Formats: sequence, C-alpha cells, structure tokens
Amino acid sequence: MSEIKSVAIAGASGTLGVHVVKALTSANFQVKVLTRSKKPGAFDASVDVVEVDFTSVESLTAALKGVDAVVSTVAGTAIDSQNVLIDAAAIAGVKRFIPSEYGSVTTNPEVEKFPVYAPSFKIKHYLQEKVNAGQLTWTVLACGAFLEFVFMGGLLDFAGRKAELLDEGDNRFSSTSLPNVGKAIAGILKNPDVTQNRVVRVSEVILTQNQLLKIAQRLKPEGKWEISKLPASALLEEGLDALSAGDFSFPVIMKIIKGTALAGDKYGAAYDENDNELLGVKELTEEYLKKLVSEKLV
Ligand SMILES: NC(=O)c1ccc[n+]([C@@H]2O[C@H](COP(=O)([O-])OP(=O)(O)OC[C@H]3O[C@@H](n4cnc5c(N)ncnc54)[C@H](OP(=O)(O)O)[C@@H]3O)[C@@H](O)[C@H]2O)c1
Repeated sequence: MSEIKSVAIAGASGTLGVHVVKALTSANFQVKVLTRSKKPGAFDASVDVVEVDFTSVESLTAALKGVDAVVSTVAGTAIDSQNVLIDAAAIAGVKRFIPSEYGSVTTNPEVEKFPVYAPSFKIKHYLQEKVNAGQLTWTVLACGAFLEFVFMGGLLDFAGRKAELLDEGDNRFSSTSLPNVGKAIAGILKNPDVTQNRVVRVSEVILTQNQLLKIAQRLKPEGKWEISKLPASALLEEGLDALSAGDFSFPVIMKIIKGTALAGDKYGAAYDENDNELLGVKELTEEYLKKLVSEKLV
C-alpha cells in the first residue's frame, strides 16, 4: 500500500481525540478534523477543521476527498453510527479506516453477545464487507483500559482507601495512557502494510488490582484499607440483568465493562503478545507506576 500522508480524524475534540491530533501532527501527518460543530480555540490554527453532518454520506464524502486514512475517535454512544462515515470513506477512496473502539476485550468474539459490545462488532463486520468488496482496509486498535481511567477511582478508591476486588484481585489487564494510544495510531499509519485488516494490540503496562493496592499500602502504610471481594462473573450478571430490565445507565454499563475487562484471562484482557515494538510504544516503568499511585494517595 502507498504511504499514508493525509488523515481525517472524527471525534477529535474528545477525551482521546485531542491526543490523537497531537500524536499525528507531531508525526507530520497532514491532519483534517471532522467535527459536528467548530469549537473556538479547540485546535491549533494550523489544523484544518471542517464542519460535517455525520448523518450525511454526501457531506462526509466531500470532506474526505484526497484523504488517505480516517481515524474515528467518536464517543462510545456514536460507535453504532460510524457506518455512514465508512460508506463515505469508501466512496472518497480512503485507503485505511481505524474505527472508534479502543477497548480492552472488545476484539474477543465471545463478548459480541453482550449488548454493550455489539455495536463495535457490527462496525467490524461492516468494515470487513468493504474489504471484501475491495473498497478499503481497516485496523482495529486494542489498547486495554485507558491508564488515566484506571486512576480515576473505578478500580480502587485510593483517596477513600477502599477496594472492591474482582475475584481475588489478581486478574491481569492491559492498560495504555491516552498519549500512547495516540502514538500507537501514528504507528499504525506509518506501517500500513503490516497493520492492514487486523487487530493491533498496544499494552503499556499489565496491571492487577492487587498490584496497585500493594504499591499503595507500601507507599502509605498508615491508614487501613476497606477491602471487599466480588466475583467478576457476578458483577457481569448484575449488569446484564439490569440492562434486560431496561436500565441503560452509566453504572450498569460499567458493571458489564468491568465484569469482562477485569475478568483476566476469561476474555483476554492482558496482552502478553502485543505490537508495542512496531508502534514505538515503550512499557511503563515500576518507578513511574509508583509515582502515579502516590499522586492519588492523599
Ligand atoms: N479503553 C478505555 O478505557 C476507554 C475508555 C473510554 C472510552 N474508550 C473508547 O474510546 C473512544 C473515544 O471515546 P472518548 O471518551 O474519547 O469520546 P468522547 O470524548 O465522549 O467523544 C469524542 C467526540 O465524539 C464526537 N461525537 C459525539 N457524538 C457524536 C455523534 N453522534 N456522531 C459523531 N461524532 C460524535 C464529539 O466530537 P465533535 O463534537 O467535535 O463532533 C466528541 O468530542 C470510544 O470508542 C470509547 O468507547 C475506551
């Protein structure tokens, strides 16, 4: 495949998107941002920002003329509607499409049956149809839990010294920081041949809840931790039952995500085999991990 030079990013103003814009501009890609509405000061003046209608193939096709690759980082709630963007990419002659997914266990076919993950499978199947029709190529990036989210309190409450351990707390999971997810995307686009039509894995660090808990206890031995345990399968079941009963709230979605992404080997959350080297992503050091934990211990 010829070199990828120009890249359009959808969802660029979001939590992950801003890091992707930074990584791709630093890697000298020509970046075009596709947005529903321009936000003053959101991007450097050098970034080409285009307002589009994400429900219109015509609007998107016009914006994608001359673009080599599309990186979608649209919100989780918009994953389902990426088919319009994919249609436009195919018509405009885009060579590579990276869909918004960036999950932990989302590439394991076993989780397709869970409603929370179904939209990303729908999109992966749709992309494969386009490949079969010779229209474009895809890459899905699996990155594990965003490292910044690991420290936001969902896995351990560092400040309140509370831990709800799933199973025994030893389930391993991969995690990657937002800047390194951006770097990994740049790495994919710099290596279009070896990354085409496959899942690429990046894993900055493999963690367990107990590992983080032990680091915290060693750093600040004073202060007792309140520790409880819950089987990951029970948490998943709770989430699925609530969803069946019509509760689509964020806490319910999180139960399903945690019940699968923190179930260790059951759904393949730890990427012992990964593409770090190809993507130019280095593993996190123990010292840096300690620093991250200590910042959360007040
Ligand atoms: N692995 C993890 O731990 C983890 C954690 C969180 C999220 N994720 C995944 O990462 C990806 C990005 O998530 P995020 O949290 O960065 O997203 P986000 O900040 O919630 O949203 C990203 C952008 O999507 C655009 N957007 C919102 N609704 C849209 C719609 N209906 N159609 C088109 N664009 C829309 C908006 O950009 P404009 O207003 O500029 O159009 C928004 O700024 C998702 O696939 C999500 O599932 C992974």
